[in-house]
Amino acid sequence: MNYNKKTVKDIDVKGKKVLLRCDFNVPMAKDGSGVITDDKRIRAALPTIQYLLEQGAAVIACSHMGKPVATFDSYKKKQLEKGKDEASITEEKWKKSLQELRMEPVAARLGELLGKDVILADDVVGPDATAKAAALQPGQILLLQNTRFEKGETKNDPELAKKMAAMAEVYVSDAFGAVHRAHASTAGVADYLPAVSGFLIQKELDFIGGALANPKRPLVAILGGSKVSSKIGVINNLLEIADTIIIGGGMAYTFSAAQGGSVGDSLLEEDWKDYANDMVKKAADKGVKLLLPVDTVTADKFAPDADSQVVKAGQIPDGWQGLDIGPETVKLYCDAVADAGTVIWNGPMGVFEFEKFAAGTKAVAEALSKTDAITIIGGGDSAAAVQQLGYADKMTHISTGGGASLEFMEGKELPGVACLLDA
Ligand code: 3PG
Repeated sequence: MNYNKKTVKDIDVKGKKVLLRCDFNVPMAKDGSGVITDDKRIRAALPTIQYLLEQGAAVIACSHMGKPVATFDSYKKKQLEKGKDEASITEEKWKKSLQELRMEPVAARLGELLGKDVILADDVVGPDATAKAAALQPGQILLLQNTRFEKGETKNDPELAKKMAAMAEVYVSDAFGAVHRAHASTAGVADYLPAVSGFLIQKELDFIGGALANPKRPLVAILGGSKVSSKIGVINNLLEIADTIIIGGGMAYTFSAAQGGSVGDSLLEEDWKDYANDMVKKAADKGVKLLLPVDTVTADKFAPDADSQVVKAGQIPDGWQGLDIGPETVKLYCDAVADAGTVIWNGPMGVFEFEKFAAGTKAVAEALSKTDAITIIGGGDSAAAVQQLGYADKMTHISTGGGASLEFMEGKELPGVACLLDA
């Protein structure tokens, strides 16, 4: 895939209406209060928004938020699938679920950060949005409602894409977190407007793309998280590129069990044991160093206050479960990182949300903060871990995309990037 795409700098936006797709899918307080708990994604979009406004564009920003269900019938179906009792599924609850995914809190926060009014539309392509878009002046910004309120959005419906495109003259995508989605607002709309990238997508492509295509060696990939099955694509792709692959997190227990180890009550994907063995073999054949934990911090239950003990990898007693890499493993992994030219990290080493089992993830984050290597952190859990543990400003690049950075590292084509004009 060609990552060399035209950017906002390659196109004249002066006096033009620009449809700007952002990823404003920010975490919100669980109590329905509308409080944004992390505005990183809004901040990350500011350089492009500010540039467009300074250039005299009228900016029509849009984003999805969460996974709203666009019709009551689909909502009901989903709730029934989740095992909810039919009588408890009401239209009122569906409407409340939509209410919580409206863009009002984002518009307010974006306005504060920009220091200017953000006009908010009540719909996506309905009468309010079209009227406000038509009246929008250069230097003004309008935010559409949650694009997923339109049922055509996730289906990449061309009619919806056409309606969105009709409001503007240029399409700019800066929604890196959503580029792995072929939706109407992330890809479809590019069929009807000249489409370029914003600065955030450009930065993500430069850092992640650069680390994958032309890494400063040795390239060390640290892969953690709970499931082997969710990381197959990444492991496969990195086996072709990396010099060293480090495995941590819950998925390490599937590797351990595959090698005949005892993993007690640890996370285990029985069906992926053969695959794990294949990976070990493939790494050896390719001369890629594959590091697996040599010891484990185990717990007698999955809880922050569990009793814990360190045991050798593959010797976890019955009734105990591995929740973090052990101190010998920490040393092994940190040594591998120290000499690296580039480190790509995706997935925590243990249950870092529990203080008692955060040491492995913390030590790796610290090692990354000290190395001279280029350090690229995948979005989602790894980004959260680095932030929570206080090392965020020490990394070369922390991706704003969870699923998107994962699919990028898998070597998959990203529809939201493929649709942009080549440079
Ligand atoms: C994310 O949070 O990873 C992006 O905003 C994409 O969201 P989605 O998984 O709901 O498409």
